[in-house]
Amino acid sequence: MNVYYASRTGNVESMIGKLGIAATKIESGDEVADGDFILITYTDGYGDIPAEVDAFLANNSSKLKGVIASGDTGYGEAFCGAAKAIVEKYGSKDLYHFENDGNDEDVNAILKLVK
Ligand SMILES: Cc1cc2nc3c(=O)[nH]c(=O)nc-3n(C[C@H](O)[C@H](O)[C@H](O)COP(=O)(O)O)c2cc1C
Repeated sequence: MNVYYASRTGNVESMIGKLGIAATKIESGDEVADGDFILITYTDGYGDIPAEVDAFLANNSSKLKGVIASGDTGYGEAFCGAAKAIVEKYGSKDLYHFENDGNDEDVNAILKLVK
């Protein structure tokens, strides 16, 4: 499965490195998805979708097969809220949440989801 990801401060990028998979970074949001994909994104604002991810999904959500979100438990109820917000706005499935750049358990769980 193709993986597209967004990372502002490096945590999701670090997770992609730990996964050891090929993945495409969403930078401007103008990227065009090359087939079905799983999205791995950080959470912005208070449970919000990052702007570049929102722009990307506006054109590519028909190929979105699932969402994995990174967040910080310090945000309480908004922890990894980007996944919920994306599912509400674009459909698809909320697959998994992890904190910051994740741990070994997260790596194993995500590898099973993206294979
Ligand atoms: C301005 C700002 C807002 C954030 N809002 C949330 C939030 O609402 N919920 C959450 O779980 N994490 C939130 N976070 C935490 C990030 O989503 C989390 O640290 C993530 O791992 C960052 O990924 P990145 O380093 O790949 O950009 C926020 C971080 C920043 C800087």
